Amino acid sequence: MIANGSHDVPAGKIVMAITRLEMKTKPPLPDVALPQGMTFEAVKFDPPHYRDLFTRVGQEWLWYSRLNKSDRELAAHFSDPKVQMFTLRKDGQDEAMLELDFRVAEECELAYFGLTAPLIGCGAGRFLMTQAITLAWEQPIKRFHLKTCNYDSPQALGFYLRSGFVPYGRQIEIDDDPRLTGVVPTTAAPHVPIIAG
Ligand SMILES: CC(C)(COP(=O)(O)OP(=O)(O)OC[C@H]1O[C@@H](n2cnc3c(N)ncnc32)[C@H](O)[C@@H]1OP(=O)(O)O)[C@@H](O)C(=O)NCCC(=O)NCCS
Repeated sequence: MIANGSHDVPAGKIVMAITRLEMKTKPPLPDVALPQGMTFEAVKFDPPHYRDLFTRVGQEWLWYSRLNKSDRELAAHFSDPKVQMFTLRKDGQDEAMLELDFRVAEECELAYFGLTAPLIGCGAGRFLMTQAITLAWEQPIKRFHLKTCNYDSPQALGFYLRSGFVPYGRQIEIDDDPRLTGVVPTTAAPHVPIIAG
């Protein structure tokens, strides 16, 4: 139980305010075309490719949790056929990250969802979400859920609400600032000031 009021957080730490959202039935989906010049593809795990894509999509938003993991840990995660990864490919390069995690029976977690900066705002996000919802509900699930955090794109929460997800919980997570531990560059996520102490 966290007491009401302000709580000091030590220098060097970041505080993530997480909103948890879910959908319990498949919503009606808009008829969305794949934006021109892109293809929707399944992705096989390859460490350098994965780290590059994770960085290009997420560095601006202070995504780092997967960068803390070794290639071996990541390979073990993606070797499970219940973990599935997809992308939007443009000009031969992967520009989006969609990870669906079916490891919990009758559930799907939207584990990662994001676009590289050039794809934001062109309809690619809506296309990718229709694919995510379709693929999730093709399996015998009762719940499709995700977390989004205050450091993610300010467009993300509204986008998820318009997609049919309903907020049901909040969490606070405190961690070492990954820019101070060297996991990501100090230039990452300029909208989150570094407080080094
Ligand atoms: C969250 C995120 C995926 C949303 O993507 P986006 O680029 O805003 O999404 P889109 O451009 O597809 O959609 C935005 C809206 O504009 C519409 N739109 C914009 N340009 C369009 C175009 N050229 N053609 C058709 N529709 C277009 C979309 O249909 C959509 O409307 P809707 O939500 O009412 O359907 C994206 O901002 C992102 O990847 N952010 C960084 C990573 C991140 O924060 N991920 C979330 C982590 S939890």
